[in-house]
Formats: sequence, structure tokens, C-alpha cells
Amino acid sequence: MKTITLTMPLDMHVHLRDGEMLETVAPLTSYSFSGALVMPNLVPPVTTLEAVKSYRSRIKKAMESDDFEPYMTLFYQNYSRTFLESVQDDITAIKLYPSGVTTNSEGGVSSFDIESMRETLEAMSDLGIVLSVHGETNGFVMDREAEFMSVYEMLASNFPKLKIVMEHITTAEAVEMLDRYDNLYATITVHHLMITLDDVAGGMLRPHLFCKPIAKRPHDRAALLNVALAAHPKVMFGSDSAPHPKHTKESCGCGAGVFTAPIALQLLCEIFEAHDKLDNLQAFVSDNAQRIYGICAEYKEVVLEKRDFHVPELYGSVVPMRAGEILTWSIERVD
Ligand code: NCD
Ligand code: ZN
Repeated sequence: MKTITLTMPLDMHVHLRDGEMLETVAPLTSYSFSGALVMPNLVPPVTTLEAVKSYRSRIKKAMESDDFEPYMTLFYQNYSRTFLESVQDDITAIKLYPSGVTTNSEGGVSSFDIESMRETLEAMSDLGIVLSVHGETNGFVMDREAEFMSVYEMLASNFPKLKIVMEHITTAEAVEMLDRYDNLYATITVHHLMITLDDVAGGMLRPHLFCKPIAKRPHDRAALLNVALAAHPKVMFGSDSAPHPKHTKESCGCGAGVFTAPIALQLLCEIFEAHDKLDNLQAFVSDNAQRIYGICAEYKEVVLEKRDFHVPELYGSVVPMRAGEILTWSIERVD
């Protein structure tokens, strides 16, 4: 039986939510990952040291394994240097959302005025706090990420020591930026390596594939595959697994988010195997992130085997991507 062992897999962008949803999804991520960068878009968003600490302890309680580290984030606002000094040991990154571009982003940044952001970004740069960014404008939906490239250029050139992660990139334009600025990095989801807009809306509407940023064109997916499969040293895996209850997805006004946490590693094996690049998967799901973030992850070995996995129809109230289908790789064991 063909197997692959991944050591210390990391998911550098995940939504764990809170309450009952947290109880459902946290054990699924903590089972197969050593750690994950946890997004702060709760209602209200995570903006204080107290909120970070109490959210972290709720996550720890909901997890079923001890060998998992939730890397915490704050929701970007213009914070003072004194505040950032007080919180730096408890967070790994600050997540910036442009206002209103995605789920629970209403309190985000409404204008990218560099002077008003300077104190915060300079302090983050000095303290080594990563800036993680949802890079979309509120323009035409297919152009939002490409239009945001000028904001990345402005941030990267004004704050050359600040590590900036372009989250869940979906376009060839974003891939090109990686080699243009030393301080720009990116996460890539598993679903954006697999689907294009055609899969979402080309036939019958598939609400469980609807997410922000929306999946783009075949040439964009090809550009993402190119850097992911090569484990380009500036890209990391970040699932952007974003659970929404079934009734809110299968409804008029469907929320954005694809739920992949329990099948992400299996799907990545399928993709990397299909392109004969399984040897590069370790770097894409762990080594690159450890180097970029300076993380020393909790030790964990995940053994995957080329054996059918029947994806459940539901996890709690959430429909996963590929629900009811059969994947060709399974998690054999976790040590
Ligand atoms: C995310 C969510 O549901 O919180 N949704 C999504 O489509 N990715 C928010 C986000 O990361 O944009
Ligand atoms: Zn997200």
C-alpha cells in the first residue's frame, strides 16, 4: 500500500468559530494538524488581549489532542505600539480585512491611508508580528484580488521589514507578486488548487464551493498549482476552511466559505500525487510555514495511505467539500 508520512502539518489559515461550531470543527483540525493560524473574525472580532486569551482557552478546551497549537491572531485596527508590546507574546499575526469584503469583516479597514496605519505597521515590523491580509477590493467580483495588488505593493515597499502574507491567493497576478517583493508571502487553499468559477456557477449552482475570494479562471488555477506543487519557498498551505451551517449555505443569501478541514490533507495527497510531486508536499504543508513564521511546531506524524475515504455528508451541521464522494487517500494514523 502506498503511504506518505507528513511531519508537523500546519494549516496557516483556518476559521474555528466559537460555541457549538467550535466544538464540532476544532477536533477535526487538531486531529491531523500540529498547529493552525486561527482567524479572528468572530462576532465581535478579536481585538483585545483578553479576547485572544479567552478564545485560545476555548479552542484548547474544544480540541481533542494536546499536540496541537492554535496560533492566535488579532483583527486589524490601528493599534498603539504600547498595546502591541503587551500582546506580542500571545499572537502570531494580525489579520487585516478590508471592510465588508467577506464574512464578519464589517469592522475592517475602509481606506488604506498609509499615514494613519504607520504607527501600527511600524510597530508590527519592529516586533516581528506578521501582517496577514485578505486582499480584495470591493470592485467587480472577478477583479477584486487583482485590483488589490497595488495595496500590497504600497504596504510591501513602505514597510520592507514587515512580513506580509497574501492570504488564500486565487490569481496569476498574486503569484507574480511573490518574486517582486522580498517581504511578501502567500497561503494557498486546497479548493483553489482544484476548482475554477465553472465548478461554482458554470452548471447547477454549488453553494458549498462558494467562498471569498471566489475561484477564478483556469490560467489562475494553473499559476497556483505551479507554485504549490513546486513548494515555492514563499508559499504555505492555509485551508481557509470556513464552516457555515448547512441551512445558511443552502439558502437565498448563501454565506461564503468552503469547509475542508477534515479532508484537506487527503485532497493535497491526491493533487500532489497526480502531478508526481508528493516529495514536495512536506515543504508546502509544514516546512515553509515553520521557516516563514519562525514556528517550532508540536511534534506530530500523520501517515496517509492510498486507500478510499468516504467523505461524510455532514460534520455536525456542516457540509464538507466533496460530501458523499470517495477520495483516493485516507489518514491511516497519527503518531
Ligand atoms: C471566511 C469565513 O466564512 O469566515 N469565508 C470565506 O469565504 N473564505 C472569511 C474569509 O476568509 O474570507
Ligand atoms: Zn479565511
